[in-house]
Amino acid sequence: MNLTIVGTGYVGLVTGACFAEFGYSVTCIDKDNERLEKLKSGKCPFFEPGMDELLDKHINKTKLLSFASSVKSNLDNADIIFITVGTPTRRLEDEADLSFVWQVAEEISENIKKYCLVVTKSTVPVGTTREVKKIISNKVDQKFFDVVSNPEFLREGSAIDDFIRPDRVVIGTDNQKSENIMRELYRPLFLKETPILATSIETSEIIKYASNSFLATKIAFINEVADLCEVVGADVQQVARGMGIDKRIGSKFLNAGPGFGGSCFPKDVKAFASTAKKKNIDLSIINAVNKSNQDRINKISNKIISKIKNNSTVTFLGLSFKPNTDDVRDSTSMKIASTIFEKGIKVQCYDPEAMDNAKKENSNLILFNSAYEACEGSSAIIIGTEWNEFRALNFEKISKLLKEKIIFDLRNIYIPENLKEMGYEYYGTGK
Ligand code: UGA
Repeated sequence: MNLTIVGTGYVGLVTGACFAEFGYSVTCIDKDNERLEKLKSGKCPFFEPGMDELLDKHINKTKLLSFASSVKSNLDNADIIFITVGTPTRRLEDEADLSFVWQVAEEISENIKKYCLVVTKSTVPVGTTREVKKIISNKVDQKFFDVVSNPEFLREGSAIDDFIRPDRVVIGTDNQKSENIMRELYRPLFLKETPILATSIETSEIIKYASNSFLATKIAFINEVADLCEVVGADVQQVARGMGIDKRIGSKFLNAGPGFGGSCFPKDVKAFASTAKKKNIDLSIINAVNKSNQDRINKISNKIISKIKNNSTVTFLGLSFKPNTDDVRDSTSMKIASTIFEKGIKVQCYDPEAMDNAKKENSNLILFNSAYEACEGSSAIIIGTEWNEFRALNFEKISKLLKEKIIFDLRNIYIPENLKEMGYEYYGTGK
């Protein structure tokens, strides 16, 4: 099967490389020539464990993966075309900006020569895939194409594993022919007995937003419970464990912290509520989740500021929105570091992978080459992102570098008593 993937962002590139791993011939398309040149040389433009190796394997050895700059010359052989362009939040609004999706649909409509399946993999509000169909059918006879919704459930940092060993594959179609082609595409997963869920197009689109919004709800919920725990002297980690053992609740996504960030949850909860509002449905829970998460930045920043002296210097460890990625989009660490900087605090930062992106986003943050260098002369350590290398820091060494021994363990990766014994003033989340 020949696959064409339009958009070499996170989703497009991981999808392309993983389909090549299954043995398909894949062409990834992007208009950004600089990005393409980098990709052709086998370099992944973002940090994702395993991607450099996968790109090298399929560009240079199997030659199943190639890159091109236009849809025009690359649809002749395509059996399936994936739309994997970005759907960012519109400026000053909550809804998803679909202009890239419409643009690709137009380009596809001008270049289809033989039957092919057009798949929306970008996260798109319900109704978008039908609209893509309409755009293409303005120029192409219906017998030459079908459209399908096939949302992705990849987590940054473990995207390759999520693709190759997914919990489920969702395919939203409006006819048997396209469902059969999609089932054939995902046949390599049959051996792993992956559930393949065939639904209507609209149902599939909603499954994606409802899944992300539900996970975001779990996080916002436990974060508010954490606030209560702090006041009454309870421990939110034990509360989450006590809840999560109940199979109806489940233990995942119940880690309290500084709030959810990244390129998906914050954008998707807003877009989900915004789409519903247009249909006169009030997703009041989702709106509350969004507000709760936004309020959290100030709440945590104020807590930090209230415990340290004016004009202090602090150390901020971890700037990416989660470990194992260099992505700082909507990162709570970046927001908290920036908020406390604006209050006159000098912020010395370190992140294992995200420093280049952090610098581009906020040049006021002072960056250091290691966690220890960032601790020199500082009055408090804030752990914002739970990278593995922060889990066993040498506190004897750090104690000699700090001016004052205060730690804000926003992700609860340390046992408070251990640090208190070493003379630290310890603040976790929800304990
Ligand atoms: C998320 C979903 O998990 C994927 O299934 C989905 O495909 C993806 O969005 C997407 O729509 O493309 P991702 O944004 O990579 O993936 O990261 P998550 O692991 O879901 O974490 C999101 C945020 O929630 C992070 O800031 C993380 O620190 C926070 N989080 C997560 C918590 O605060 N507590 C938790 O228990 C779990």
